[in-house]
Amino acid sequence: MATQDSKHTQTLDALGITAANQVQTLFVELRARFDADAAKVSDDNSWKVFRDAWLGRKSGVLTLVTDNWLKPAPPELKRAVGASLNELRSHVHAHIEARRAAIESGTEAAASAKDRVDLSLPGVIRPVGSRHLIRQVFQEIEDIFFSIGFSVVEGPEIETPYYNFEALNIPEFHPVRDDMDTFYLELPKGAPGPLLLRTHTSPVQIHTMEKRQPPVRVIVPGKVYRRDNPDATHSFMFHQIEGLAVDSDITFCDFTGTIDYFVKQFFGESVKTRFRPSYFPFTEPSVEFDASCIFCGGSGAAKAGGVCGKCKGAGWIELFGAGMVDPAVYGFVNYDPKKVSGFAFGIGIDRLALLKYGIDDIQVFFQNDVRFLRQFP
Ligand code: FA5
Repeated sequence: MATQDSKHTQTLDALGITAANQVQTLFVELRARFDADAAKVSDDNSWKVFRDAWLGRKSGVLTLVTDNWLKPAPPELKRAVGASLNELRSHVHAHIEARRAAIESGTEAAASAKDRVDLSLPGVIRPVGSRHLIRQVFQEIEDIFFSIGFSVVEGPEIETPYYNFEALNIPEFHPVRDDMDTFYLELPKGAPGPLLLRTHTSPVQIHTMEKRQPPVRVIVPGKVYRRDNPDATHSFMFHQIEGLAVDSDITFCDFTGTIDYFVKQFFGESVKTRFRPSYFPFTEPSVEFDASCIFCGGSGAAKAGGVCGKCKGAGWIELFGAGMVDPAVYGFVNYDPKKVSGFAFGIGIDRLALLKYGIDDIQVFFQNDVRFLRQFP
């Protein structure tokens, strides 16, 4: 405690203090010692010892400073010693009182227990999430198409029938609409409508061609919605990547070459693939692209007997539709069909992910079961 220091037991003369600035230094040192003593006080007993050491009537530090420094001080230092002593006295009284209040209210003990850091405890390990498998597959596909000069565009999930159907050469009452005329929005009276959840990513072909002149090379990742009953390969909300390439001299060979490149990059050489003639109002000619069913090895027969439930006995699983852009579509976006040609495709991402990762039910993508998701960090 402060009493152990002996300067306040000697006179200024004995300490060799002859100037006001030396007096100040002396008081600064003494105040620092007081503050250090105050920090050590933690309970009632130590507070009493501390108080008596500084305020004790006979031998407290303040009494000794008064007796040894102030009273015998030469006239030229008296004023400086008196002023500094007054400051110190106020400081000492205020802090001794504050320490007592803190100890009495118990905050001292509580605070020190709370603030104490136990460095031996293990740290808090927060689980780090990862990207959903569908998002990872999107990224894989995007990277493959980036490598051959495509870029990404996005479009709205809520569409007008014009973009979802008409501008894609699907007029009202066309039989293709039977499969796709699905989720229409209820709109307030008087609102311009109708609006529907897009049934495919193909409307973004139209948005893109309206905004850009050829050459166009884009892919469009996104969600689409259909009135399909959920089963192992169907969901009412699923994901597609649309592709569109339009330029002055794009041929059917460019189309098949691009698709072939993509499939080999994505699946490797092992999966068997086939083009099959198909029909889409917005491509001519049109094809469906299938991959051999990984669950039955392409045989169409389930191991336990009967037909394979995944491909429904076909031996193939449909992955996407595609074709050369129908010249009628160019009429809707003011491209000259005599000067441009191109191809488009619409890939079902969820089915692609099923095949690549050997997953047997599309529904697991949407159930948010972390035991499944953790398998694809
Ligand atoms: C279309 O959606 C066309 N827009 C694709 C297209 C684009 C053709 C550009 C030509 C040019 P389709 O209805 O076949 O095509 O769907 C494309 C793919 O989406 C299917 O091959 C399939 O992989 C996937 N798909 C379709 N319905 C579902 C569903 N209910 N659940 C999960 N995937 C589905």
